[in-house]
Amino acid sequence: MTVKTIDDLLKEGVSGRHILVRSDFNVPLDDNGTITDAGRIDASLPTLKALTEAGAKVIVMAHLGRPKGEVNPKFSLQPVAEALSEKLGQYVALAGDVSGEDAHERANGLTEGDVLLLENVRFDPRETSKDDAKRGEFADELAALAADDGAFVSDGFGVVHRAQTSVYDVAKRLPAYAGYLVNKEVSVLDKAANNPEHPYVVVLGGSKVSDKLGVIEALATKADKLIIGGGMCYTFLAAKGINVQESLLQEEMIDTCKKLLEDHGDRIVLPVDLIAAEKFDRDAEKKTVELDGIPEGWMSLDIGPKSVEEFAKVLASAKTIFWNGPMGVFEFERFADGTRGVAQAIIDATQNNGAFSVVGGGDSAASVRTLGLDEDGFSHISTGGGASLEFLEGKTLPGVDVLNA
Ligand code: 3PG
Repeated sequence: MTVKTIDDLLKEGVSGRHILVRSDFNVPLDDNGTITDAGRIDASLPTLKALTEAGAKVIVMAHLGRPKGEVNPKFSLQPVAEALSEKLGQYVALAGDVSGEDAHERANGLTEGDVLLLENVRFDPRETSKDDAKRGEFADELAALAADDGAFVSDGFGVVHRAQTSVYDVAKRLPAYAGYLVNKEVSVLDKAANNPEHPYVVVLGGSKVSDKLGVIEALATKADKLIIGGGMCYTFLAAKGINVQESLLQEEMIDTCKKLLEDHGDRIVLPVDLIAAEKFDRDAEKKTVELDGIPEGWMSLDIGPKSVEEFAKVLASAKTIFWNGPMGVFEFERFADGTRGVAQAIIDATQNNGAFSVVGGGDSAASVRTLGLDEDGFSHISTGGGASLEFLEGKTLPGVDVLNA
């Protein structure tokens, strides 16, 4: 990456300066508002620590969920402020607003090494507005928090594919630098996207074909094999004439899948057996079945053991692996074996065959931790879901592109 990085900023000196940082703290919460996977907070620490240790007055901007431009306590960053305080070992104050009076007062009151977290930037409708003028006005307010000698550090890799105020417009108003996380993610993903060692195997899961269509089309020619599991495989199986019963299906995508199979059938690898469930329930009765053996009215919630074996064979010889999306409903322990098996096969290929493996996406990264797999077994676990997919598709990421300006 040719952009200026946080190391350049640290060399210039940050002591006593207000540094605005965009982090991605979009972490999963349970019904009680407790963070269930703090991976993204952990990934933000190197940048934040480097800045506080160098005496910066740090102001962090982040979003949580999609509150649609309205203040909604359910999406408050309070749990994040608490987790961040604990992980940084210092009190992190949460502003009562985003760019209002409280944020300004608190920003003015910061002393060297302090960290202030602004409330969810998406509480302000201008954050995600399509109107450049509205985003610009909001960006002016945010940039003003950094005073005259401030700077901006872009470190929320998970959100760099969004041309939103705190990601994109603020970067145009202050001297802008890539944080450690953005810098690392971009260089790692660049290797997978532009210079993969072959065989290059991509494993895709997750629920919707439509969400992954761009990446499937882009990778169908770049990758040597495209393994497809998870909710989206049932639309491919239906395209092959298999009766998937009540399994997740995007009927409007069947023709697209047929075309993909016609054009790239030699590269696309689909499951050969499934785990059928009587209903969508963590305790549902289950059966291992052949592809056409899902009992009437049942649904498949995972790939079967023969599929894991087949996928593992393909992965064993890979030199580059990109994995996005679980193979089944891994949140239900009874339907987690497919995801666990494939993740383990990726770890084995990394450790035994020297494959360069990247796990992309919030869900896949969370599944690795939920299933108790060894995170260090993979070469890289990306914090970006949509962002890593768009990067691999070859799309321009506005939040990265703006740093080049
Ligand atoms: C993510 O969770 O992938 C990022 O934080 C982006 O969130 P968004 O899809 O709501 O923009």
